[in-house]
Amino acid sequence: MIRRFVFGEMIETEAILEKPQAEGGAVPFLCVDEEAMTFSYSMEDSDRVYGLGENVRGMNKRGWIYESKCSDNPDHQEDTRALYGAHNFLVVDGKEQFGIFLDYPGILTFDVGYTRRSELKITASDWNLDLYVITGENVKDIVKQFRHLIGRSFVVPMWAFGYGQSRWSYMNEDEVREVANKHRQLGIPLDSVYLDIDYMERYKDFTLNDEAFPEFEKFNEEMKEQNIHLVPIIDAGVKQEEGYSVYEEGLEKGYFCKKEDGTPFVAAVWPGKALFPDMLNKEARDWFGDQYKFLLDQGVEGFWNDMNEPAIFYTEDRLNQVMEQLGEYKGKNLDLNLFWEFKGLVNGLSNNVDDYTKFYHNMNGKKIRHDRVHNLFGYNMTRAAGEAFERLEPDKRILMFSRSSYIGMHRYGGIWMGDNKSWWSHILMNLRMLPSLNMCGFLYTGADLGGFGSDTTEDLVLRWLALGIFTPLMRNHAALGTRVQEAYQFEDVDGFRHIIGLRYKLLPYLYSEYMKAVLRDEMMFRPLAFDYPEDARAVRVEDQLLLGDGLMIAPVYEQNAEGRYVYLPERMKLVRFKKDGSCEEEILEAGDHYVDVALTDVVVFVRPDHLIPLSKGGQCVADVDFEDLQYLSFVENEAVYEYYHDDGYEKDYENPAHMCVIRMEKDGKVCRE
Ligand code: NOJ
Repeated sequence: MIRRFVFGEMIETEAILEKPQAEGGAVPFLCVDEEAMTFSYSMEDSDRVYGLGENVRGMNKRGWIYESKCSDNPDHQEDTRALYGAHNFLVVDGKEQFGIFLDYPGILTFDVGYTRRSELKITASDWNLDLYVITGENVKDIVKQFRHLIGRSFVVPMWAFGYGQSRWSYMNEDEVREVANKHRQLGIPLDSVYLDIDYMERYKDFTLNDEAFPEFEKFNEEMKEQNIHLVPIIDAGVKQEEGYSVYEEGLEKGYFCKKEDGTPFVAAVWPGKALFPDMLNKEARDWFGDQYKFLLDQGVEGFWNDMNEPAIFYTEDRLNQVMEQLGEYKGKNLDLNLFWEFKGLVNGLSNNVDDYTKFYHNMNGKKIRHDRVHNLFGYNMTRAAGEAFERLEPDKRILMFSRSSYIGMHRYGGIWMGDNKSWWSHILMNLRMLPSLNMCGFLYTGADLGGFGSDTTEDLVLRWLALGIFTPLMRNHAALGTRVQEAYQFEDVDGFRHIIGLRYKLLPYLYSEYMKAVLRDEMMFRPLAFDYPEDARAVRVEDQLLLGDGLMIAPVYEQNAEGRYVYLPERMKLVRFKKDGSCEEEILEAGDHYVDVALTDVVVFVRPDHLIPLSKGGQCVADVDFEDLQYLSFVENEAVYEYYHDDGYEKDYENPAHMCVIRMEKDGKVCRE
């Protein structure tokens, strides 16, 4: 059951399209303090709290404090409170079970037993919000009801399930060609190469660097002939430059965010001074969306939207102020305090929250200060694109994923998990984020495999890929100036070919599970707690996941490890895929096991009476035969699998012809219905 409670007058987010009738009376479970603008819940020791989408720490969020505030934070660690997305949905699981969603576009704080271990306290920065309280049969049911409420998740074209190689940046055609050729020559599968900011002419959205990509359309075609898709980045800031048509047109039509005095708000990002299109103004959003046509017309079929928190290097006004203030330090003895003050001035130039109070949106004729709707910016940039794709290419699936997001954006695009680091701890963070993102409708998601910032190592990339082969978005991406990390840069090319190749074998299962999760409002990745709620050990497991109907995964996330402990909540079949192509199987009883996992092994666990359809693999998604299936199976009585398969490009997702049932008997006999 979903109940909606209204506090004040919220600014419309459109996270929910069909809102249930608001109710009066007491809010169940929560204690509401209007004056303090808080909702609180008294937790028992054994209560667990799941959700909050993109955030650090455990799947069980208890014990830390989080902020809903879309933030550009490439240096995030365990003590980070806010990342790129704002996902205000959580489920309390314990003596009572309920979900809550706060539909509120400003900053919220979720103190999940941080100040007081037994208290969950949510504080709003303004008392204008809608609160949804959801109860159900169990946690999965609560999540499903919520997902139904927020609408169906966006669907990618099938090629977007292939392996993608990215780097900031491949500077020109030849560098991209080299990436493509190396993969093809070495037999490492590949479906996409990502273009970072340098493909543009001096970082101007919807332009091309003509020297680096002189015949882009032709080049894109050349890549497509090899079944490789080019996926360019689009940034939130539009360069301020006379003669640049996007800037001039946006300015003339009044489509950029403005300061209080009505003049355009100028902030610097990659191109230096830039303006932000007012993504919250429908007309401006439509106009920005139409700009994607420039690249769609040249055959591009996928994009990633970046810097849309929006990230700000500095604003024109703050820079001028700081420049003046810095002069005051000249000739002074900078002791501890003065030096920190001095450093603070410079560091405070970027992503300064105060700058978010300096510009305004025009939402349906109302002037709204940005900080009140901060969390909606990235969402609406991606919505601009998603809605434009529907207008411009109604019959095509176009890949889109964004860095910043709010709940509701999942209808228009996926997300990647933003800038991470080549750290072992970030593999685990990646794993733990998957279910909480799925809870909020973000099914097409994945991390920068191998790590974005800092130098990587071969073993880190291999281990991270061994998780990445399961995530719908599987992309290796690294930052400017870091060690190269394409698969072919390392010694054990066979190991990379094997692990990436396995992704293509798993595709029938992965795509089918993804589509079922989309169509049924379900989670593709779940904590063990969601499926084994009665198992006191399983509910505490924080480094294993259930993947779809029949698999459990338990990746290795420590350097030099040769295996790991795995907890089995029931009897399962371990399957170990080895680099030499062989496959070892062993039935393990419920309980704790130490499992050997060599650096190039991938281990999965098949649940009893389940089967996993596999293909024979391929060099790209187009190569994969989704009909000629093999099966991983663990049949004690009979295994039944609902197999979803469509052509991956058309949009008739719900056509019943896409679904069939595959049955396997104990003797291995398979029939399809
Ligand atoms: C920030 C993004 O998060 C990252 O992926 C990208 O490479 C850089 N911007 C440069 O565009």
